[in-house]
Amino acid sequence: MNARRVVLTVWLALGGVAAGCSAPAPKLESLKLGDGRTVAAETLTRGRDVYTYYCVSCHGERGDGQGPAAVGMRPPPRNFRQGLFKFGGVAAGEVPTDEALKRTVRRGLHGTPMLPWDVPAADVEAVVQYLKTFSPRWSQEAPGQPLEVSADPWKGREAEAVERGKAVYHVAGAGHAGCSGCHVAYLPKPELEALTEQVTKRKVDLSKADPYTALARDTDYSVAVDDKGEPTQMAKVLPPDFLVHRVRTVWPLGAMVEGAEYTPERQREELYRVISAGVGGAAMPTWKGAIPEENLWALAYYVQTLVNQRDTAEGRALKQRLLNPAK
Ligand code: HEC
Ligand code: HEC
Repeated sequence: MNARRVVLTVWLALGGVAAGCSAPAPKLESLKLGDGRTVAAETLTRGRDVYTYYCVSCHGERGDGQGPAAVGMRPPPRNFRQGLFKFGGVAAGEVPTDEALKRTVRRGLHGTPMLPWDVPAADVEAVVQYLKTFSPRWSQEAPGQPLEVSADPWKGREAEAVERGKAVYHVAGAGHAGCSGCHVAYLPKPELEALTEQVTKRKVDLSKADPYTALARDTDYSVAVDDKGEPTQMAKVLPPDFLVHRVRTVWPLGAMVEGAEYTPERQREELYRVISAGVGGAAMPTWKGAIPEENLWALAYYVQTLVNQRDTAEGRALKQRLLNPAK
């Protein structure tokens, strides 16, 4: 793959000596966006060069996610022709902000083949604009309202926040989210029943329920496309079990992300960000506005405790206890 790219680059550098064999890349026109901005043709041309060099092997020349390296890749590389994004920094399903797209390109998506790209800011800017040429959505719609990260109301009260988050996560209704209805639960059944009763004032019987297995959910993302680039098969995704799977927008503590060490505050903020926005085109809904801000922040604290137990003896022991409760 790499070797092929080198050969191609050298060949192009020689000016495509065998004239006629290579059609020059078509000239690009400037692009009018749905929010009234216009992207200059030079920016798009630079973006295409960056894309051809770094992105095409996975995302494909046509932007359909079917590049030569994409075969069998899970999750599949994004098909930019659909104009759908998961981590747009806006309510799930709206057109993403440039800032969110650039963040994804600079940081990558943790635990997926989408790696961070350490390229000059102007190249990131150009390639993000170039992505917009693949779907008409960009010229028809303006980006959604960026979701702000509010002030953390729990500063200095971490233990209290985690307790609240645990209830918001596991119980539905009364300002609580019931995340475990799609994701898995992390409490033994008797505790889950007691907590539910405490919050909703109603008795529940979970003896026949299985709150520890998540079901795969449909998404709007294509895995395969036909000759015209139309999706023929859609991807299913499992709501992540935070003790087992990685959260793609959140890194382990201490990791170097964009040149700065990943701190607990930063980790919490990114959890807040993705939980409040939801995941576009997938079952994960937008929570900002649906539950009180303090409960949203409490969730970030609670999910953080799970994320940081991933792949630890403590986390494995908790899973064991939940799956094989002592009779
Ligand atoms: C090695 C393969 C690979 C390369 C190279 C690659 N990507 Fe990706 N990219 C992926 C995969 C896989 C995903 C989907 C991850 C997911 O759904 O969790 C993705 C997703 C994305 C997304 C979607 C983010 C969202 O919010 O939905 C953007 C934007 C993106 N890539 C841009 C780029 C750009 C720009 C480049 C080149 C600088 C690039 N990618 C190079 C594999 C790759
Ligand atoms: C209707 C089902 C559903 C509900 C309810 C739900 N989620 Fe999700 N969640 C999903 C799915 C599906 C994904 C994976 C999306 C994907 O991979 O495209 C996901 C992904 C996530 C992620 C990972 C994002 C990333 O960066 O990789 C986090 C964190 C998350 N959910 C937290 C929560 C929290 C907290 C709640 C409760 C407030 C919640 N979810 C409620 C279905 C749900």
